[in-house]
Amino acid sequence: MDKFVIRGGNPLLGTIRVSGAKNSALPCMAAAILTEDEVTLENIPQVRDIETERKLLTSMGAEVELGYGRAQHRTTISCRVLSDPTAKYEIVKTMRASALVLGPLVARTGIARVSMPGGCAIGARPIDLHIKGLEQMGAAIAYEHGYVEARAERLKGAHILFDKITVTGTEDLLMAAVLAEGETILENAAREPEVTDLAALLTAMGAQIEGAGTSTIRVQGVEKLHGARHRINPDRIEAGTFLIAGAITGGDLCVTHCNPAHIAAVIEKLKECGVRIDTLGKDSIRVRSEGKLKTADISTEEYPGFPTDMQAQFMALVTQAEGVSQVRENIFENRFMHVQELVRMGANIRIDGRTATVRGKTPLSAAAVMCSDLRASASLVLAALVADGESILDRIYNIDRGYEHIEEKLRGVGAQIKRLGNVFSDRREPSTTVSA
Ligand code: UD1
Repeated sequence: MDKFVIRGGNPLLGTIRVSGAKNSALPCMAAAILTEDEVTLENIPQVRDIETERKLLTSMGAEVELGYGRAQHRTTISCRVLSDPTAKYEIVKTMRASALVLGPLVARTGIARVSMPGGCAIGARPIDLHIKGLEQMGAAIAYEHGYVEARAERLKGAHILFDKITVTGTEDLLMAAVLAEGETILENAAREPEVTDLAALLTAMGAQIEGAGTSTIRVQGVEKLHGARHRINPDRIEAGTFLIAGAITGGDLCVTHCNPAHIAAVIEKLKECGVRIDTLGKDSIRVRSEGKLKTADISTEEYPGFPTDMQAQFMALVTQAEGVSQVRENIFENRFMHVQELVRMGANIRIDGRTATVRGKTPLSAAAVMCSDLRASASLVLAALVADGESILDRIYNIDRGYEHIEEKLRGVGAQIKRLGNVFSDRREPSTTVSA
């Protein structure tokens, strides 16, 4: 299994480019199910989860071309034939976002079978709200052999009020609604940029959607959708991770090809920590950290609040700030798995329920650490970049799920990081972990 070896101490200097957002690309790939025509998506990140989604779609009979070039990463998907509308256990267990095919499959083919995702590293993460919404749209739901099956000749528009804000739940039901008969209203919908990105693709395919990006989305169902070409948004979490990499190493980094508006909450907190941030034009951010880092408290919230997917990385940063910072996790019940590893590297962190109290500044010392999930892995990379000595990060398949060639990108700005093990295509996933 691959490992990273990271020698800390170098300030990161130069320019680093952000890839396309995997959390936008995954629902957009699922949206191709909704039409017999081809859907082409540009700015697809070269990460493990995208390979998994390709596997999922091809297992259903779709044709998926995936090409990674110097200038462009692109996929063209044809779901003209969908011979087996099933998301199998073997795939769902490694990527929970596979549940995103439930809505589009039942909308297009009248039947969907999706393996129930089990518990996972960062919390229970059920899909009850996806299922409840489909039921409201007239789908008959059955559970058998660990699978949920949804059937409907044609889904009907409905007024759906989410009990809880769910990102993939909103995306799944949005994809179901675009081919349903009549109007669907999604209330208390997620406002994440990934939902807006999906809505832009669906609109290009002929869907009628209003209000994406707000908490009320209105959809007028249409009979048929057609093919489209769409460019995926930049990855706001990768951009935020690089900003913290610049800040924690006392570097001077220009993070390019990103959308600063999508990470406003992260930028605010970095400024509170005394980090200098300058937005350059529409799509670049310069980060500089010259003096001492100051403490800041964060509390994760749905967009536009501070993202849960940046919590672990921010915690690594405040281990280097003078004083006490509090980090509260409100979205997932078990998302502090990086804490134990950060403590092994010398951090002083105490957990009390959903709040972690970080006392800094503690020098970090290199250690052999275990990457437990995608964003926890990113926080350990950040900690290792400032630790004294050579850290070894194990189980980095977790980071390969969502960060494109992170070691090459970081090496390009002066980090001492190398991969031990196989090349990307040979990376193997274990059967027990589930991606964020
Ligand atoms: C998505 C992101 C993930 C991010 C998360 C929160 C993708 C592929 N993943 O995950 O990176 O961390 O949003 O921003 O886009 N819930 C229910 N019932 C449901 C669905 C969700 O109770 O049917 C709960 C979850 O357990 C969790 C909360 O709602 O506590 C939010 O989860 P959700 O927004 O659905 O996360 P994901 O869409 O899985």
